[in-house]
Amino acid sequence: MISLDPFFTPFDCKSLHLANRFVMAPMSRYFAPGGILSQESADYYRRRIEGGVAAVITEGVSVDRPGAVAADTVPSFYGEEGLAAFASATADIHRAGGAMIPQLWHVGGCEDFNFPDSPHPPLESPSGLVGPDIPGGRVMTSTDIDEVIASFARGAVEAQLMGCDAVELHGAHGYLFDQFFWTATNKRDDRYGGDDIAQRGRFAADCVAAVRAAVGPDFTIIFRISQWKTYQYDAKIANNPAELERWVAPLSEAGVDIFHCSERRFWESAFPEEDDRNLAGWTKHITAKPTITVGSVGLDRDLMEDFVAGESVPTLKSMDELVRRFERGDFDLVAVGRALLADPNWLQKVRAGAVDQLLPYSKACMETLY
Ligand SMILES: Cc1cc2nc3c(=O)[nH]c(=O)nc-3n(C[C@H](O)[C@H](O)[C@H](O)COP(=O)(O)O)c2cc1C
Repeated sequence: MISLDPFFTPFDCKSLHLANRFVMAPMSRYFAPGGILSQESADYYRRRIEGGVAAVITEGVSVDRPGAVAADTVPSFYGEEGLAAFASATADIHRAGGAMIPQLWHVGGCEDFNFPDSPHPPLESPSGLVGPDIPGGRVMTSTDIDEVIASFARGAVEAQLMGCDAVELHGAHGYLFDQFFWTATNKRDDRYGGDDIAQRGRFAADCVAAVRAAVGPDFTIIFRISQWKTYQYDAKIANNPAELERWVAPLSEAGVDIFHCSERRFWESAFPEEDDRNLAGWTKHITAKPTITVGSVGLDRDLMEDFVAGESVPTLKSMDELVRRFERGDFDLVAVGRALLADPNWLQKVRAGAVDQLLPYSKACMETLY
């Protein structure tokens, strides 16, 4: 049996104090009628903490900006009622002994592929594109950019005021920040565009700097990045470590404390011509900041294969590889998505080696908040 003991050690980073190295990955659930996080959602999150993970990174939540999200069942992280619901969920999570990390989200020009017919205010994006020649959103003016940055800063302050342990900015998967990062979706010729990723990264860096100025030096800021996009699985922002450095170093300098490196399979090399390190390993090497790895931990199929078909079977086959990379110092935390969505007690079972008791993940799991 594989020992997961190395992961059962505390982790501290500014305001974030974790009992072990496992966190729940952010997963949109669309169970927030009228944009208000429901008690059922809060209970669902609390059960994951009771099942042993150290922190919940919530589903993407809407910042206070019209058209930040494209479905009306995404929780709002603004307004009296919306914030009260999150404050209550945060208190529940703290009582259960875990940490609460809301993921602040702005979709840019992306319609919600789960709910394409949901009503929403007009969308906005860097250049009116969400993929190569795929239109989405109106082109943002410099005033729009300033207002969006301010909305992220407000969201982070609200998180800090209600006692959350950290905040995550969703910079991955083809949404707003990523639309600035990606050449296919950023054709701007102002301060926020350009041939170099360091230029296209300025919007995110300015936003992180504004968040940092608003929350002060001691509140933990996590930033999520990915190479892959919902519109193109094989897209790349950084083709080599030098480009990755020009992408993540300015974000680190602007105030990111932890990078959450989203990959579909954690064991895959980010730059196969270099070595076997994944995106979290390389980002930690470049920035010297802690990183979170994620991607098919405990399952036999990746996220995208699941969207297309069937059921992912639980497996602990890749756990020894997870331990090997962790002990090598490639990353500090492990985010678990679908395996934990399917089973709140996943971690307890995994630690006990009870593979036969693990529950499979299928689309049916999306229908309830078990
Ligand atoms: C149903 C579902 C919803 C998701 N929603 C989000 C989201 O709101 N924000 C985000 O950054 N990633 C989201 N993801 C991606 C997950 O955070 C995670 O990176 C991905 O599922 C891979 O981890 P896994 O293989 O452990 O599931 C979602 C994934 C799933 C399956």
